[in-house]
Amino acid sequence: PEYDLAIRGGTVVTATDTIRADIGVRDGRIAAVADRLADAARTIDASGLLVLPGGIDSHVHIAQPSGPGIVMADDFASATRAAAAGGNTCVMPFALQPRGQSLRETALAYRALAEGQCHIDVAIHLIVSDPTPAVLGQELPAMIGAGFTSFKVFMTYDDLVLNDRQILDVFDVARREGARVMVHAEGYDAIRYMTERMERSGQTGPYGHALSRPQTVEREAAHRAISHAELVDLPIVIVHVSGGEAMEQIAWAQERGMKIHAETCPQYLTLTAEDMKGLGQDDPLAGSKYVCSPPVRDTASQEQIWSGIQRGVFDVVSSDHCPFRYDETGKRNPKGRTSFRWIPNGIPGIETRLPILFSEGVSKGRISLNRFVALSATNHAKLYGLYPRKGSIGPGFDADLTLWDPNRREVIRQEILHHGADYTPWEGFAVTGWPVMTIAGGSVIVEDGRILEEPGRGRVLDREIDRTKLSPRL
Ligand code: URP
Ligand code: ZN
Ligand code: ZN
Ligand code: ZN
Repeated sequence: PEYDLAIRGGTVVTATDTIRADIGVRDGRIAAVADRLADAARTIDASGLLVLPGGIDSHVHIAQPSGPGIVMADDFASATRAAAAGGNTCVMPFALQPRGQSLRETALAYRALAEGQCHIDVAIHLIVSDPTPAVLGQELPAMIGAGFTSFKVFMTYDDLVLNDRQILDVFDVARREGARVMVHAEGYDAIRYMTERMERSGQTGPYGHALSRPQTVEREAAHRAISHAELVDLPIVIVHVSGGEAMEQIAWAQERGMKIHAETCPQYLTLTAEDMKGLGQDDPLAGSKYVCSPPVRDTASQEQIWSGIQRGVFDVVSSDHCPFRYDETGKRNPKGRTSFRWIPNGIPGIETRLPILFSEGVSKGRISLNRFVALSATNHAKLYGLYPRKGSIGPGFDADLTLWDPNRREVIRQEILHHGADYTPWEGFAVTGWPVMTIAGGSVIVEDGRILEEPGRGRVLDREIDRTKLSPRL
């Protein structure tokens, strides 16, 4: 037969087109997209289904050091298993440089941890927490050259925060080397001030977390990051934007022609700070299931973020999957009972990102199918150096595909998920639209929630700098 695999009769969707076509796969890549295809060794009937580029989640945390005694709930095997079950074929976690440690050692050790453990391909970002002269002068340029072409910097957290001069210095390295920088924009000093104020006033429960990081804190940091990017003349991505205030700063910069990209996440479209109050639950830490940073806001913010998605302020929707076990960080967390500041920040969402975005976006008529594909796959590949290998459907692309049933109704429940966390913040959330098959490198790896392989197929992808793509048109 001419093809290893043929997917027939489906509706093929890319960021720009929606067409009835068959797809022929050979040697793990898409060989043809055509009206009718020659023989294939295996045929999958996709009639009634959408054929989408596999989801790319460019912001996930896997097996990341998270403070004394706290272990992240997912390793590479469980995180990529859950990602695949949720219709994804590539995820991008972070190798975090602990202060005082070599960026190079960190990056290579993290990569070794991933090798052989993944169900789907991964590409690794760095987190730069200690920009010493050696890191700025040698290690960071060397690692960018070795395929870690993107990195994240933080404007808050005791162990990660960079001051303004350090941010300018790492931006400068990124500009020289052609790397992509992601910025966590929340202001460190303002959060410390507000945290102490909340603690003094007795607001120590999980809801105090939201009060300690109001939108002002995010807006100020976003504006500061934008200003630094303007000085250095560096395109940046402001990640996990939570509400209208930071978004307005980004839109303002974009209107002035600055290359500021933005990411948001399903939690900012569906959850609110009220959830952190844990109303009706007996455990006072029940609200910790919703603690993430920036915090989830309110329904008005959700609508503002949707309008930003519709207006093109946002390029990508990622999960910011950052999984902990409620049993450890909630129920059995005596320190967490003294103050929200001891509740680790982050929520699981690697498996539910696509169904929530599809259901709330496409099924409810807020965004088109093509925009869904751009936000969930294509733009991630374009921003982070994976395009044109991944992120779309056409000859030469990796055969990373998700068959999607746009009409299937599901209720999100912990018991149907594959992640390592022991809860989902979306328990009981009803969606319309669900991934029914995930194909990675031309092989069916998940069918109807069943994982068909042991981990090991997924590769760690090295990326190359292509300066012509630093400012992609999205
Ligand atoms: O609360 C969050 N988002 N934790 C993950 C780390 C980060 O800042 O993205
Ligand atoms: Zn962050
Ligand atoms: Zn953009
Ligand atoms: Zn994150």
